[in-house]
Amino acid sequence: MRLPFPQPGSSSPDLLLAWLKTEAPDALNALWAQADAVRREQVGDSVHFRGLIEISNRCERLCAYCGLRRPNRALPRYRMTLLEILESARLAVEIGCGTVVLQSGEDFSWTREEISEIIREIRSNFPVALTLSLGERTPEDLEAWRKAGADRYLLRFETSNRALLNWIHPPSRRQSFDRFDLLRHLKRLGYQVGSGVMVGLPGQRLADLAQDLRLFEEFDLDMVGIGPFIPHPDTPLGASGLDANLSTDLVDPSGTALKALALTRLLLPHAHLPSTTALEVADPGQGRILGLTRGANVVMPNVTPAAYRRAYDIYPGKTAQRDDPRDLLAALCAKLHSIGRTPGKGRGDARPRPAGPSTARQECA
Ligand code: 5AD
Repeated sequence: MRLPFPQPGSSSPDLLLAWLKTEAPDALNALWAQADAVRREQVGDSVHFRGLIEISNRCERLCAYCGLRRPNRALPRYRMTLLEILESARLAVEIGCGTVVLQSGEDFSWTREEISEIIREIRSNFPVALTLSLGERTPEDLEAWRKAGADRYLLRFETSNRALLNWIHPPSRRQSFDRFDLLRHLKRLGYQVGSGVMVGLPGQRLADLAQDLRLFEEFDLDMVGIGPFIPHPDTPLGASGLDANLSTDLVDPSGTALKALALTRLLLPHAHLPSTTALEVADPGQGRILGLTRGANVVMPNVTPAAYRRAYDIYPGKTAQRDDPRDLLAALCAKLHSIGRTPGKGRGDARPRPAGPSTARQECA
């Protein structure tokens, strides 16, 4: 008997787990087709481009998975100037991005006011939506940046397995925020909120991932980023990424990440789902397009100046991505047309929610 497809609002963890475990080609083909059909019906054939600017690779945190972690001395550290950031934003607009994403390590040398100024400059110079991905900042910072004009915030919760998260993402010395509280706070402030997870972390199990999917739904996320974990040799999770003492039933990070992506499309039909860079790095030449045909509707071209991009070394292979974003976009657009998709126009906002003051500033492109 074929597994039923999960439905929004009524998906049991057992059903999600059964889908995550399934290897039967027929069932998987049906899942891919269903995710693609729901994507087409709910968010259309447009692929929205979000121009990613990696504004600094300094980070205070000790995350066991990430190459930007503070103790990684092998990495030259940088912080972009306002002028450089504006130049990158201009490039993003030039290549067709309706959104600019500012991302950095958890870098408190960026003051609240400096980031506010960057937000105001971008919003007043370019016709784009602005997304922030700056880690766990104080509720006051988040509020000030919303007031300055930021529209969206990305903060992946990485895994819903608390013990695993505490181990790989030790609390900051500076302050301790629960990521889930921060996500709720971002919603209250009226941000369009994105989160997501890595797939294939040491000790992560398929049941954890089923729980992750339930949380995406519970938080009614506007955006969800899902990518395979890629071990970084200069981190504690190191070269193999798999600790022999940790049993896991999650053996194929990329394949499982694609299943999680397709299931997320079924649970959150309107969400914006990027086909992540990690998917492409783990499966070069294919991963990004596979994501787009299995539920994703967003791509995030990297518009960081090449010299800095090389130092934004979260995981191996990421910085080796094509140097000139114009080339990437040209190649991508040709591929998109070949699969019946079109570059998105406008900001590509989340669908406004039916009620509540927090939706007041959302717009639709
Ligand atoms: N492999 C894959 N993704 C990673 N990230 C961080 N380190 C890795 C890694 N080694 C992801 C995290 C983070 C995002 C910016 O990059 O999910 O939230």
